[in-house]
Amino acid sequence: MNLMQIQSFAQKTLGNDVSGHDYNHVCRVASLAVNLYQTDQPLTPDITALLQAASLLHDTIDDKLTDDILSRKQQLMQLLTEAGFDESQQQEIMQTITKMSFAQNLQHKQVLPTWGQYVQDADRLDALGAIGIARAFAYGASHKQLLYDPQLKPIELTSKTNYRQHQTTTINHFYEKLFHLEQLMNTTAGQQLAHQRTTYMRNFVQQFSKEWQGQI
Ligand code: ADP
Ligand code: NI
Repeated sequence: MNLMQIQSFAQKTLGNDVSGHDYNHVCRVASLAVNLYQTDQPLTPDITALLQAASLLHDTIDDKLTDDILSRKQQLMQLLTEAGFDESQQQEIMQTITKMSFAQNLQHKQVLPTWGQYVQDADRLDALGAIGIARAFAYGASHKQLLYDPQLKPIELTSKTNYRQHQTTTINHFYEKLFHLEQLMNTTAGQQLAHQRTTYMRNFVQQFSKEWQGQI
């Protein structure tokens, strides 16, 4: 399997987007997915290639980045064929990247292949910990969202919430989404790391709140 073209396609498509889906994000997801999988079970060269390809491509099919989802899907299949993936591997990659998003799983839990569950966990883990905090504030700034507003209470996100449009603050986003991710992990390795990263974020929010109130 040769992932060179997939890598350069992801780099070209995602670039330096500042609102959370840049090329560095998908590279972190690729390394983390491989490390998580290896923690739970032995890796094979095929599984490594599947984890890396799906991670690198998982945000290129987002409706924010393309108007024509159908032709983007065809483009991805072509790239996967050229990289050396057979038909059933291509099906699994497409299934993983089209069904793993948080918004889709708010509707109902989607079925992913076992290896794909590591990619989904790695993607969610990149919204947690120190990087998760940094990404949340970067997203907040690019959407002109307040850091915090004590008057605005966090809401419960359901399949009826307009996830991208509802009024929120960056601190509320921790309560509305980020603190729930730990419970949504699919894999043992993912669950353990999510727990550590969530504890780190809870400490951050606690310190933030102390400083907000001017406490010494
Ligand atoms: P994905 O497409 O990976 O499921 P999103 O597009 O929702 O996720 O999120 C990308 C990044 O932006 C994540 O780090 C997420 O925490 C952050 N983010 C999304 N919505 C908000 C928000 N309203 N406020 C702050 N950060 C957000
Ligand atoms: Ni992502």
